[in-house]
Amino acid sequence: MTDYPVNMECRPDVAAFFDDATNTISYVVKDPGSEACAIIDSVMDIDYAAARITYDHADALIAHIRDRGLTLEWIIETHVHADHLSAAPYIQEKLGGKIGIGSKILVVQDVFGKIFNEGTEFQRDGSQFDALFEDGDTYMVGGMQCLAIYTPGHTPACMVHVTGDAAFVGDTLFMPDGGSARADFPGGDAGTLYDSIQTVLALPDDMRLFMCHDYGPNGRDIQWETTVGEEKAHNIHVGGGKTKEEFVKFRTERDAQLSMPRLIIPSLQVNMRAGEVPTDKDGNPMLKVPVNSL
Ligand SMILES: [Fe+2]
Repeated sequence: MTDYPVNMECRPDVAAFFDDATNTISYVVKDPGSEACAIIDSVMDIDYAAARITYDHADALIAHIRDRGLTLEWIIETHVHADHLSAAPYIQEKLGGKIGIGSKILVVQDVFGKIFNEGTEFQRDGSQFDALFEDGDTYMVGGMQCLAIYTPGHTPACMVHVTGDAAFVGDTLFMPDGGSARADFPGGDAGTLYDSIQTVLALPDDMRLFMCHDYGPNGRDIQWETTVGEEKAHNIHVGGGKTKEEFVKFRTERDAQLSMPRLIIPSLQVNMRAGEVPTDKDGNPMLKVPVNSL
């Protein structure tokens, strides 16, 4: 059971948009009682070799919202992603809405502000975002109440967003046959991730869970939707009553073998700024590559 205010009677409409380049799923979540909607985890396209940024994926979200005459009220980031760039500012410019993330973004900004040797012009106070959520904070999309739950472990700022019978788990969980996300980024912790996953698994069994990523393990088709009950019973890393000790041992050994995500260098610099590309002293968009520091 959970102490969080959950309303399983409300069934929001969820439209999913899969990005092949980064295996990310973005969502448009609509209030069933109005034309209001929110976006969860948008993607900005990048050809990293050419440092060329484009917006096909974000444009698909924008077209979906415009075609249906919806009003975008929130642009949510479940965390500072290390494997894709957020398109939040581009979408906000076109459709409005407030950009929100967990309040622990300050920790992430401090850690990566140092790694990227950012100057004092890079504010480490989360002010690039319109809203910073604390655990249990609620916000409205039309008449539908949404709830942010603090779920650190993969990163310090991770939050799961719950609205009605739908929860957007970010990188807290993958599909049952995918397990869980790595916990070895700066500020990550496997034991903390296990505890956060237990918080998600304490939600009602028939709560729909929407993943941020899927890699189609063992050749299966890409999937992004499951339930709390399915994860509890079958998740290969935490299901079937696996203990914290078992999880931490497995997760730590696995993480030691993983290479860094292909887009971690540009992703962190952009996403810790709420999706804005940093600029050099002359105002040109410019990314840094810190050597031997990740
Ligand atoms: Fe992530």
